[in-house]
Amino acid sequence: MLIDSHCHLTDRLFDEDLEAVLARAHAAGVGRFLVIGANGDFSHNEKAVALAQAHASIFAVVGVHPHDAKSITEETYTQLRQLAQHPKVVGLGETGLDFYYDNSPREDQRTHFRRFIRLANELDLPLSMHVRDAYAEAAATLREEGGGKVRGVMHCFTGSEAEAHDLLSLGLYISFSGIVTFKSAHELRTVAKAVPLDRLLVETDCPLLAPVPYRGRRNEPAYVAQVAHTIAEVRGCGLEEVVAATKRNTEALFQLMA
Ligand code: NI
Repeated sequence: MLIDSHCHLTDRLFDEDLEAVLARAHAAGVGRFLVIGANGDFSHNEKAVALAQAHASIFAVVGVHPHDAKSITEETYTQLRQLAQHPKVVGLGETGLDFYYDNSPREDQRTHFRRFIRLANELDLPLSMHVRDAYAEAAATLREEGGGKVRGVMHCFTGSEAEAHDLLSLGLYISFSGIVTFKSAHELRTVAKAVPLDRLLVETDCPLLAPVPYRGRRNEPAYVAQVAHTIAEVRGCGLEEVVAATKRNTEALFQLMA
């Protein structure tokens, strides 16, 4: 069984046909879904928890994307603490630093990434992290704030092998999305080969980033099979090995109940 460790099924693009999307995923061997509520408006977090409550196969991760860091208030943290009480909320995020788009001022992103790390430690929940053009600073922040204890995954990893090793040294997991299947992503495939099997996760990050051969279309969890297939290919191992390892790793990190 595959697990899509990062999907945005609360997105409006899934409103019309979510049941069909889930059915296609199950048919493709994808049996569990971590739905990330950080998707613009805060109400997506409530929607993610509602989906998790309605579907045995869905778990929720709640947070505010670094793009939206400027919108965070004290009330946001009060709401997140409340949502985190739900037994199917298994993590916080996505949070982090995006210095590529800079959709929120960097100081706001820094402040709230630190607060999310502290909240993760306090609530004993893992973090789903989004970082772009800021891996070194993110690692430094995790060392300072996390005391080396914070559990989490660097989602949709697109950095170098050296950056991956730095994050692995913090005990983090590394997740690959459909980007690893793109023709131009030679360096990223080298990283996907180097990450230890027991630290590897797979995801779609749907509705964006559909893997080859679906590139350009709406992405959906069924396509996480393409991500796992590419990783197995570059590692020269069987698909089953990647499927089993990423399932085990995702269940361990997010402490998913059987
Ligand atoms: Ni995402």
